[in-house]
Amino acid sequence: MLPVIESLHVPVLLQEVLECLPVPGDGRVLDLTLGLGGHAQAILARAGAGARYLGVDRDPQARARAFARLGGDPRLTVLAGTYETIWDEPAFQDWCRREAPAGVDAVLMDLGVSSLQLKDPDRGFSFQAEGPLDMRMNPDAGPTALEWLAAQSEESLADALYGFGEERASRPIARSILRALGEGRLATTLDLAAAVHRVLPLEPARRRGRIDPATRTFQAIRIAVNGELAGLAGAVAAAVQRLKPGGRLGVISFHSLEDRIVKQTLRRLAGVYDGPGRTAPEPLPRLLKLIHPGGLKAQDAEAQANPPSRSARLRIGERLPSNPSPRTAP
Ligand SMILES: C[S@@+](CC[C@H](N)C(=O)[O-])C[C@H]1O[C@@H](n2cnc3c(N)ncnc32)[C@H](O)[C@@H]1O
Repeated sequence: MLPVIESLHVPVLLQEVLECLPVPGDGRVLDLTLGLGGHAQAILARAGAGARYLGVDRDPQARARAFARLGGDPRLTVLAGTYETIWDEPAFQDWCRREAPAGVDAVLMDLGVSSLQLKDPDRGFSFQAEGPLDMRMNPDAGPTALEWLAAQSEESLADALYGFGEERASRPIARSILRALGEGRLATTLDLAAAVHRVLPLEPARRRGRIDPATRTFQAIRIAVNGELAGLAGAVAAAVQRLKPGGRLGVISFHSLEDRIVKQTLRRLAGVYDGPGRTAPEPLPRLLKLIHPGGLKAQDAEAQANPPSRSARLRIGERLPSNPSPRTAP
């Protein structure tokens, strides 16, 4: 019997991941966001005894849970790290040298927060329950959300709310949050939600069936605290370098900011020129073929059964053999 969180956690776009990232019996898989191991469990269930699966996550609680869920599976290795920096870690390089010298068959990146993080009030990610203003995916590293907020000016906070949450009322919300902080009224997730609701009241939004107006502010602060967007393009490019020819990368994103970065990076690696003018100033290397170029969304049944899947989009690229002809035109 799985502990409660794992039984509540349903990996998103699972069928699409299994179909679009086929893993041969003795395949090599790199899962850069292991989470609670939901995708890992399903992929390993279909793989053979000779398969090897490396799961990376920055969250020690997620790693422990995933290990317990999949523990004892000799095909699995779990490493602490982030997808921005894992590439230089000796333990990662050892695994690649030992288990995947020719590259891996599949890389999976399922971005964002896990249900474990969201549903645990002590992690401070959600305004559904009172908890400390933490929001760190790795609770052993970096400032908490409260510490991060305390270091912001009104302008820098408004910029983050707008840039990472697309919040149009960013300036008054930033003022309200910093006022609450200055008055000693900002310690918990509910305090932060209340500071937003003083600018964008909850009731009218609720009556119109809209999302809680605090959602965008929580997303923005979480992205800022965890530096979620800064290294994403570099991580996608590094992952592509690890694929063997014919190997596939799948990236699941949950909001337009992430998806834009993933889409642009994959297009660039596929040799598609998106810059100004009709042609690229110099030929673009073509490392990838795009599979389902618009990305895949959840089918109706999944969207109804598993609400987090509604905003998910899976983008897939397939590694081409080295040195295919570069593209010079769009
Ligand atoms: C959506 S969950 C993954 C769920 C997983 N696919 C499953 O089925 O259980 C995202 C996970 O990625 C981790 N994560 C987010 N950003 C990361 C990063 N930059 N490096 C490594 N792990 C990261 C989070 O800690 C979280 O556990």
